[in-house]
Amino acid sequence: MSFITIDEAVTFLQNKKAIVFPTETVYGLGADATSDQAIAEIYRLKNRPSFNPLIVHFYDIQQAQTYVEFSGLAYKLGSLFWPGPLTLILPLKSYAGISKLASAGLQTLGVRIPNHPIALELLRKINVPLAAPSANVSGKMSPTKAAHVHASFIDKDMPFILDGGTSVIGLESTILDLSSDVPTLLRPGFVSFETLKEYIPNLIMGCSIEKIDAPLIAPGQLKSHYAPNHKIRLNATEVRDTEVLLAFGSNPLPAKGYIYNLSETGDLIEAASHFFEALHILDALDSKGIAVMPIPNEGLGQAINDRLNRAAAEKKD
Ligand code: TXA
Ligand code: MG
Repeated sequence: MSFITIDEAVTFLQNKKAIVFPTETVYGLGADATSDQAIAEIYRLKNRPSFNPLIVHFYDIQQAQTYVEFSGLAYKLGSLFWPGPLTLILPLKSYAGISKLASAGLQTLGVRIPNHPIALELLRKINVPLAAPSANVSGKMSPTKAAHVHASFIDKDMPFILDGGTSVIGLESTILDLSSDVPTLLRPGFVSFETLKEYIPNLIMGCSIEKIDAPLIAPGQLKSHYAPNHKIRLNATEVRDTEVLLAFGSNPLPAKGYIYNLSETGDLIEAASHFFEALHILDALDSKGIAVMPIPNEGLGQAINDRLNRAAAEKKD
């Protein structure tokens, strides 16, 4: 594996290269958010549609304030939840120097301060914001450890990796859009809708740009490049002989094939932290598909079901 130290990562980043670094949610493919050249490298490696903006990572609110406008509410939420698994969409200070490729030309920016000692040390040392989508090829599953990164990229495009063990949260950050009049949850995550609603009574549930834009991706590309190994069958009440099972809770369905139980005690936090690891393992097995037991659609279960629905949609032929 192509591992590097923090100091080596800093040098690569200063040379406008993209590297992989750990966060508490998933691993990110990071590059200097102020450099078009560096951001172009992320899009190339990920094979990502360039109209989909990137989340930009900072080491603290003061650094972020150089680049985006904080309302009172944004500052309060940032103080409460950062460093942590929350991304705030805030109005961009256009003169501040974030690459237009990173923001996909929008007037807003996704801002996140990750809660991971290696990520924070890297951000401090490089001292420029790092744009970082999840470190997987577009359409593939997010990585929660270095081995997953290796499984996603072809050798020629394998980025260097700063290893930080397993991501403890295991699902991408909650995305909250505070850039317009109506605060909108764009992506469910560890910081739940109910938790945010306590601070934002008029919070509504929205839809991520990614989902709206999905049909615009060239279908030919989708088939060849995003082809998943296995179909995902949600809310299974029985397991077919040829399927493996993604189980949840103390009563897993009987199955002939392999069973991965996200949480035997029905703990949604534990389930979320194992989610991508489970999919990576099940997807690598020889089967005709992955049956998935129902997961309660409450709290963190909403975030898990969101990722499951996407995985199932992407795995249609
Ligand atoms: O946990 C995470 O957020 C991870 C780690 C690496 O920090 N990053 C991540 O990035 O999940 P990515 O690129 O896979 O997902 C970014 C999402 C996309 O759905 C994108 O559309 C949305 O954030 N996004 C980014 N900037 C936005 C903006 N200005 N307005 C609305 N949505 C935005
Ligand atoms: Mg992603």
